[in-house]
Amino acid sequence: MTVDWDLTAAEKDGYPHFMIKEIHEQPAAITRTITPRIQDDLPDFSGDQIPDTLFDGAENVTIIACGTAMYAGMVGAEFIQNRLKMPVTVSIASEFRYSQPVIDEKSLVIVVSQSGETIDTFEALKLAKQYTDRTLSIVNVKESSIARESHYVVYTHAGPEIAVASTKAYTVQVAMMYLLGFKLGLMNGRLSEAEAKEKVQALKTVPAHMEEVLQYEKRVKELTSRMVNAQDAFYIGRGLDYRVAMEGALKLKEISYIHAEAYAAGELKHGTISLIEEGVPVIAIANQQKVYEKMISNIREVKARNAFVILISKDKAIDDPTICNVHLSIPDVPDDLTVFETAVICQLIGYYTSVGKGLDPDQPRNLAKSVTVE
Ligand code: G6P
Repeated sequence: MTVDWDLTAAEKDGYPHFMIKEIHEQPAAITRTITPRIQDDLPDFSGDQIPDTLFDGAENVTIIACGTAMYAGMVGAEFIQNRLKMPVTVSIASEFRYSQPVIDEKSLVIVVSQSGETIDTFEALKLAKQYTDRTLSIVNVKESSIARESHYVVYTHAGPEIAVASTKAYTVQVAMMYLLGFKLGLMNGRLSEAEAKEKVQALKTVPAHMEEVLQYEKRVKELTSRMVNAQDAFYIGRGLDYRVAMEGALKLKEISYIHAEAYAAGELKHGTISLIEEGVPVIAIANQQKVYEKMISNIREVKARNAFVILISKDKAIDDPTICNVHLSIPDVPDDLTVFETAVICQLIGYYTSVGKGLDPDQPRNLAKSVTVE
């Protein structure tokens, strides 16, 4: 008897593409990543040989990365700056490496890289080391160049990511940024033990909520029929929602070749609103309570110009045609943690738009998984 044996298909576990397989692997990847760093519901990096002195006395944070890893850094930065009140800068590695860094020994430099081999990130890390002994990398690939070059490393446990467009590596990076943020807050007196515990307990529920959102797959697939012919798409949000919108827009443009941009919703009136015309897809994210009303009024403005609005929010139901065409209601979790659920939806939108256009989402044109050339 002979058996047809296709190694690649076998590795895809029955999924048509690596990307969709990797999207589905996220809940398990997050569990693997956070569990070893939680002790009695508090962040604990002793297993990574990270001394408390790394965080203790750190007065500001610089996050350096490229691409999706940089967008994970943007989420982490927003959390650390706005919830912990610590100054944070996010630098694109290719800019940082040729800049005059304003960092010193009180600066904690966090370098984020899935592959650990991106040349710009590696060179930026080397430059940062000239100013501070507090460099920490968040890396997925063991013993990679960036992991070895940084003073300290915490490994994400996403497992191998094959699809060029990053999915599970992003969400585990975000989860790691949160845990590091909790630790930083505790060590610097910006977060009480009770507050940290509450946040860790909430973070532990993320994988289950992501599973829930993965159930929306069929619905998202159907609605992408409205996207395949689009020339442009806009992702709008405020605060953390704006940060996750950036990654959402990148996912769409990388694999569907549709021009996609993320905007801080409050900026629409300063220019972008002029690009909104009939049928333009707008993915509107409204998960931050503090700015919810403002966000809804921004959404009404694009809807009034006949955009095709896909709203992602925690509301149970919105069937107000002056707000959206489609509402994807996500599970009610603390505002900070909605980014994981939103990210999954954005990944599914990107994936199914690409597939709907007959493209191969695993191997987009002109892009490489790891960029080791300048
Ligand atoms: C390439 C990949 C992206 C990735 C970026 C940074 O552009 O296509 O998915 O986010 O490099 O890679 P890194 O391995 O440093 O996270």
